[in-house]
Amino acid sequence: MTAESRPPAAAGWATPRVVGQPLPRVDAHERVAGTAIFPSDVQLPGMLHAAVLRSPHAHARVLRVDVAKAERMPGVLAVLHDGSPGAQIAWHPGRDGKPLSRLFDPHCRHEGEEIAAVAAETPYQARDAVRAIAVDYEVLPAVVDAEEAISPGAPAVHPGGNRVPGDRYERGDVAAGFAAADEVVEMRFSTAAELHAPLELHGCVARWEGEQLTIWESTQGVYAVQSEVAAALGLPLARVRVIGHYVGGGFGSKLATGKWSVIAALLSRLTGRPVRLFLTREESFLVTGNRPASVMRLKAGVKRDGTLTAFEFEGLGAGGAYSPNGAGLLDWLVRDLYTCPNVRCTTTNAFIHAGTERAMRAPGHPQGAWALEQVIDELARRIGMDPVALRRRNVPAVSQGRGGMPYLTTGLDACLEEGAKAFGWEEAKAGAAAARRAGGVWARGVGMGAGLWIGGAGGDPATVFVKYFVDGSVNLNMGASDIGTGTKTVMAMIVSEELGVPLAKIQIEHADTGTTQFATPSGGSKTVPTEGPAVRAAALDCAAQLVALAAADLGLPAAALELRDGAVVAREDPARRLPLGEISGLRRQRVVVGKGTRERNPAGSVICPFAAQFCEVEVNRLTGEVRVLRFLGAHESGRVMNRMTFDNQVCGGITMGIGFALTERRTLDRGQTGKLCNFAWHDYKIPTALEVPAAIVSHPIDLPVPEANLIGAKGLGEPVTIPTAAAIANAVFDAVGVRITDTPVNLTRLAGRIAAAAPAERS
Ligand code: MOS
Repeated sequence: MTAESRPPAAAGWATPRVVGQPLPRVDAHERVAGTAIFPSDVQLPGMLHAAVLRSPHAHARVLRVDVAKAERMPGVLAVLHDGSPGAQIAWHPGRDGKPLSRLFDPHCRHEGEEIAAVAAETPYQARDAVRAIAVDYEVLPAVVDAEEAISPGAPAVHPGGNRVPGDRYERGDVAAGFAAADEVVEMRFSTAAELHAPLELHGCVARWEGEQLTIWESTQGVYAVQSEVAAALGLPLARVRVIGHYVGGGFGSKLATGKWSVIAALLSRLTGRPVRLFLTREESFLVTGNRPASVMRLKAGVKRDGTLTAFEFEGLGAGGAYSPNGAGLLDWLVRDLYTCPNVRCTTTNAFIHAGTERAMRAPGHPQGAWALEQVIDELARRIGMDPVALRRRNVPAVSQGRGGMPYLTTGLDACLEEGAKAFGWEEAKAGAAAARRAGGVWARGVGMGAGLWIGGAGGDPATVFVKYFVDGSVNLNMGASDIGTGTKTVMAMIVSEELGVPLAKIQIEHADTGTTQFATPSGGSKTVPTEGPAVRAAALDCAAQLVALAAADLGLPAAALELRDGAVVAREDPARRLPLGEISGLRRQRVVVGKGTRERNPAGSVICPFAAQFCEVEVNRLTGEVRVLRFLGAHESGRVMNRMTFDNQVCGGITMGIGFALTERRTLDRGQTGKLCNFAWHDYKIPTALEVPAAIVSHPIDLPVPEANLIGAKGLGEPVTIPTAAAIANAVFDAVGVRITDTPVNLTRLAGRIAAAAPAERS
């Protein structure tokens, strides 16, 4: 029996035994012990090392490249540049599909653009040879700030100019909405670009065996890399195998293919040797993407009773040199999060001479929440309503941004209500106010924010195989990557739930285009709701085949039997049972292969996850230092599949949000060279134990939604970072009466504004 013929409506789990438990990761030991082989650990016999020459200028034209000296350097086996045969490969498709650039484009539109690459016996020889390449540049004027880029006279990144209009969205009558409001708030916000900083760097090892290319890549999607590399090199898919066992973080930056994979493949073909090309941290900061800088203006109106009357939003995002989507999804929460009849949103992208944006955990949403959730907080203050109450007053039942389509389920109100209760919102507000009255240098405050994520439904296609062996062990075969969220663990738990096999007996084969089934990249908070249902379908298919085989032995119709506790049992007469290992058909064929595919999502409704977060901070009235004391994340993502990996995501997402609010900023040498100033972790600060409180509480709203898919779960990885920064800003306002409108917080400026706001408190 195949998945296509499985009974269509397997019921949701009423009382799951394995699913939902707080189980440690199935690969925890190898991850912690260091025995897991990540792509960056791969060492092959005869392997060469590659290094890339990159533009030191934010904007320049390459007039001449002389590789003669580099080619004669010791250990060098190949040098590749724009003039090399076969190297003129199109890159960065524009909106009309025409490429904006090529692999070693002589027109460098941002610092770090690839000019040449070397393969040598050792990494040191490769770097030395890169330094020996002589290049003549014509240095051109650069613009690296979004607002400057769309101003008259700015140097154009592309011939069409730097301004790319985004969507213009409108519903209702915005002017009438503002006229009907009792209070109107208008504020300007900005957010700094955040750099991708996964622990494992970006890169790959490439090897040719005859006409067959294999790439070990640190990626969120092996099939994505396969198709993009095959297209770049003009190869059939079947000749490109991509393996991505383990990935040391990606957060969106490893959804797409980098030039490094194609360069490594070309160098490997030239030399006939495997080639390793992993970027340095400095290189990764230049070319592996970023959460684009934004400037936002939001005007909102509210009636005294808490009815929202109008939103008007303008957003500008810096897509970098090659993405027209720098403002992508900036306005989604304004459109969709709260009930409001009159909304107008305008977004604009600016090309700038800097690294291209890439998806970063909930693209657009934390930026939009930074604006929306602070404005809602301000509206609540103006009308004297609690901010939780104002939000609960405006929880929508339908997705207004999608023309009023109903949410299949929404836990937004539960996140707000139960989260506030679990956090002790009322007591914390009163406690912080009392602490402020007591005076002192440190002012205490509480704040909160809410959110939803546009994605997280998952969907087809996905295909999974589950092989049940005669000894009761299982092989689970799926193409998806586990990007650190615990995907493998959750999938094994689904198999265990259906087949009664302990996790220790489940072997997982994954993320390899040569041996596993097609999967879309792991991202968009969709991996569990995409792959999970296919895994369950495959396990159900396996179970049905085992039951059919046992029916022959038991002399009963399959319809009278079910798989329970490691045996096939007669439903009406449990004494008639056959342990799986004794099924004669299984003993003969040795293995049963179940196949599962992802069903289509139900039509006519919207499936997405919801969030509310609460925090308590202290702000130093003299220095502006912000200490986050505690956080609570209340998250509704359908069924909680594994309480431990669920909580991991909440802690990780809040940690990233703290970085967005307090520490992370790509600093470009604006107005001068345009170059990156903070190109290492010393100067580009991701949050550490100094900024992240031990007291992060995850409060799941466990709301299985069996109508959505076979496992009843929605995605979690991205909503966990959406409201965090805004909640901190709201808490800072509660503490000192000053709004941080620009990320990350500037302590000097904050201290100055605290002093200006309350000069008496300094003495
Ligand atoms: Mo995510 S930004 O889709 O990895």
